Amino acid sequence: MNAIFEKLQTCRQYIRSRTDFIPKVAIVLGSGLGDYAKKIQIVAQVPYTDIPDFPVSTVPGHAGRFLFGHLGEVPVVCMQGRVHYYEGYPVSDVVLPIRLMGLLGAEILFLTNAAGGVNPSFHPGDLMLIRDHIALFVPNPLIGPNPNELGVRFPDMSTVYDKTLQEIIRTSARENAIFLQEGIYTQLTGPSFESPAEIRLLRLLGSDAVGMSTVVEAIAANHMGIRVCGISCISNLAAGMTANPLTHEEVQEAADKASVRFARLVTESVRRMGQEVRRNPCKRNKSGI
Ligand code: HPA
Repeated sequence: MNAIFEKLQTCRQYIRSRTDFIPKVAIVLGSGLGDYAKKIQIVAQVPYTDIPDFPVSTVPGHAGRFLFGHLGEVPVVCMQGRVHYYEGYPVSDVVLPIRLMGLLGAEILFLTNAAGGVNPSFHPGDLMLIRDHIALFVPNPLIGPNPNELGVRFPDMSTVYDKTLQEIIRTSARENAIFLQEGIYTQLTGPSFESPAEIRLLRLLGSDAVGMSTVVEAIAANHMGIRVCGISCISNLAAGMTANPLTHEEVQEAADKASVRFARLVTESVRRMGQEVRRNPCKRNKSGI
């Protein structure tokens, strides 16, 4: 059996010894957005440290546990804190939690992050719908023997961010009077913030926002047939766009300020996604569930 799939089976068995909850939507809460977890009516929680061989988040502002429960009527699993490539884990471990949530039943992955605004028309506190992504200097999470149990060797990435889910997020924003930017998110490795010259490069490449997560997760999810969508909370303008140096505290504070709008947008979108999953149940059968 493929080593990655074997590890996933061990993790899945452990989670199943704690809960038989089957989520439909998986949500990843980014830096400073972890408080959103309070909206969930929790059925079970599993700290990452309890799961055998599981990568553990070391970043302040990332609690490090799975929450299983309901958002309204919709069964969800929520990652309160993610692991990042810059923490030193191999990229296959960085995406392990995403794959695990898929194996536990999630049909939709809702990614969130805090990001630097590269587009000069963005403001700190803006929310941005991710339309597409660029992976720059981060290894592809699918490198290595392909876990055929999950997906194909050469998966298509022409529509990673599901068009129907994008439309659901747009509609939810419009109907709740939430201003929504849209754009391309670029993942770099971090952990240092970028230089002003790198930000100019990203702008030339067509990037609107920059961060240190999300893209590898989206690739792994798309590989195994999970429908993906994402929102960035623009926590700051990227390096060189203002006179101020960047700090992680600033990122968390800006996410705090956007948290009411963020919460409403996620809650409304997930409610509609619950209906979408009922209308269009997942046809994927690679995941062994
Ligand atoms: N750069 C990279 N990652 C980030 C930033 C940034 O400016 N802001 C929040 N995460």
